[in-house]
Amino acid sequence: MYKTLHTDLTDNILTVTINRPDKLNALNKDVISELGEVVEEIYTNKDIKSAILTGAGPKAFVAGADISEFQGLSKEAGQKISAKGSDIFFRIASSPKPIAAAVNGFALGGGCELAMACHFRLCAPTAKFGQPEVNLGLIPGYGGTQRLTKLIGRGRAIEIMLTGRMVEATEAHTMGLVNYIVTEPDELLSETRKLLAIINAKAPLAIARIIECVNIAADDGPFGGFEREQEAFGECFGTEDMKEGTTAFLEKRKPRFRGA
Ligand code: COA
Repeated sequence: MYKTLHTDLTDNILTVTINRPDKLNALNKDVISELGEVVEEIYTNKDIKSAILTGAGPKAFVAGADISEFQGLSKEAGQKISAKGSDIFFRIASSPKPIAAAVNGFALGGGCELAMACHFRLCAPTAKFGQPEVNLGLIPGYGGTQRLTKLIGRGRAIEIMLTGRMVEATEAHTMGLVNYIVTEPDELLSETRKLLAIINAKAPLAIARIIECVNIAADDGPFGGFEREQEAFGECFGTEDMKEGTTAFLEKRKPRFRGA
């Protein structure tokens, strides 16, 4: 039983719903650690052939890491948070069983990164994507600098991460950030299940090898840029700008950055 996740196993598809709708499903420590547990369940439970990650409520898939947990943390603690979340996201990305993101609303920061760690993405027309960490004096810390760049290309990724702007579903689709927009929001989960049902009828050992080889092609693994991202995320925790950015968010005001 999970505290922050709701799970449902039907027709060999495990639907995992992140369930903190009052906080727009922000990834606090409990959600991160339960995501780690549920991924292991996906790996080991023979009744599960594939999985869906989605968010509870009409507004958000996941609105990012829980900013309230970042207050007063050291550089080292920041790096540890990034390393822990990144490890779990690597387990998602390298799962031998397909994991799809059904993006039902905001997919921001860690939410966009979680969706990108999945093997593919479907979204509602109301979905909004983005890496707004720069607004907090931070950078993406769960693989976003790497996976967004690989999915949509360097120029678009840099612009999105430097402006922190939100990307609507249609633009996300044009960029290749999502595979499909499901026009009827109520049908997002059923359409995702239909796609996974097609895959579930294929040969599991071949599926696992396709995922493995594609990840090699995409350099999706705990090295290089991913490692530097975790270190750089930690470095931001040592800055006044990050303290100002996160405090301003929690106080619901605009931040005043000084470059220190
Ligand atoms: N961490 C912690 N709490 C968050 C959160 C996050 N990433 N995102 C939203 N929340 C909380 C809000 O603080 C608010 O809590 P409250 O009701 O106790 O005040 C609640 O969720 C609802 O969010 P709110 O901001 O009131 O909704 P909105 O519709 O006005 O705005 C967003 C929606 C997504 C634009 C806005 O919540 C936002 O910018 N969130 C942060 C996104 C972000 O920077 N993510 C990266 C984090 S590293």
